[in-house]
Amino acid sequence: MKVGIIGCGCVSGKHLPELAKIPEAQVVAFCDLDIAKAEAAAKQYGTPDAKCYTDYHELLADPEIDNVRVLTWNPTHCEITVAALRAGKHVLCEKPMALTEAEAQMMIDAAKEAGKVLTIGYQHRYDPDVQYSKSVVDAGELGDIYFAKARVLWQRKMPVWRNLCMAEHGGGSFIDIGTHALDTVLWLMDNYKPKYVSATMYHAFGNRPDCGNVFGKWEKGSIDVEDSGFAFLVMENGATILFETAYTLNTSEETNSIQYMLCGTRAGIDNFGEVLKMTGDAHDMLYVKTPKLAQGGVSYVSAGGGTTAGCEEHNFLAATQGKAELTVKPEQAAVVVKILEGIYASAKSGKPYYFE
Ligand SMILES: NC(=O)c1ccc[n+]([C@@H]2O[C@H](COP(=O)([O-])OP(=O)(O)OC[C@H]3O[C@@H](n4cnc5c(N)ncnc54)[C@H](O)[C@@H]3O)[C@@H](O)[C@H]2O)c1
Repeated sequence: MKVGIIGCGCVSGKHLPELAKIPEAQVVAFCDLDIAKAEAAAKQYGTPDAKCYTDYHELLADPEIDNVRVLTWNPTHCEITVAALRAGKHVLCEKPMALTEAEAQMMIDAAKEAGKVLTIGYQHRYDPDVQYSKSVVDAGELGDIYFAKARVLWQRKMPVWRNLCMAEHGGGSFIDIGTHALDTVLWLMDNYKPKYVSATMYHAFGNRPDCGNVFGKWEKGSIDVEDSGFAFLVMENGATILFETAYTLNTSEETNSIQYMLCGTRAGIDNFGEVLKMTGDAHDMLYVKTPKLAQGGVSYVSAGGGTTAGCEEHNFLAATQGKAELTVKPEQAAVVVKILEGIYASAKSGKPYYFE
């Protein structure tokens, strides 16, 4: 399988080391607006004759390339993915899928027309605790899930090094980091029918470049997206999802990774406090169970990747060969985009947003 990389910035560091471990995959082409980044990535991870480009159209014109990674900035995902699918390539595009539901639909349509596989980079679905929770939910052990929480809360991690904190990238903590938690909760609930959302968002630290920040200082005026945002999402079946996101927030409840809580009619499960716990009652007593995830989960290991990013690559490549069912379906990622669009509309208008 010959792979092309479009966008050789930070997140290519998630994909390239994993591709290097897969003998059947050879990375033969690299593209970045900054040719130096493409050349550096090609030197480390490419085949000896790997080609480097600044124009992604040239990479897509190579008929040898079978599949591509779209690892560029959010506003370019739709345009580049559609072009790649039309050029006959399978596509793994980074999250968020797109800025709008209309764009996401164009990408889905292009994949269908081309008969190619399209997936989105939601690697947290392979986190061992998420895999375990999925098997619990799918076995029906939680009953009907009617309340959930999705959280990514950082105390001081404004991602200033990526220069992505401007509105043209679609937004801040909601679309950039919250998107992972929302995707995970929707997938665990297998509920993709939102009814309405009420959201608020804040720019409480953007004008405070003097504050402490794990990722360093920033220029005043260089951040114009929300540094935190909160949403109350109601699904068509009446289920409620509380969604909390922050790059910066004065809280002692900082999350290392994504956090979620699912409450059903029979039992609940959450990974708050970074430990997976299942709660409920049995034999007339309440219980709290903590599965020993450090020993590995069957699904996690059998996916073959070793790391979440490795699992993602293995699943995508196997799906392109018809050997596995795609884990992250583009239709699911498109609902995340639809909800994010509704969240921003609600936060900007100060009113609830009703989905059609
Ligand atoms: N799945 C994850 O956990 C995860 C983590 C980080 C970033 N991401 C996503 O990955 C994407 C990239 O983020 P990043 O942190 O790597 O940003 P980055 O700025 O470090 O890298 C993006 C690269 O894309 C290049 N680029 C932009 N437009 C291009 C074009 N038209 N043609 C060729 N190259 C182009 C830029 O020059 C840059 O080098 C974003 O959509 C982000 O949301 C996902």
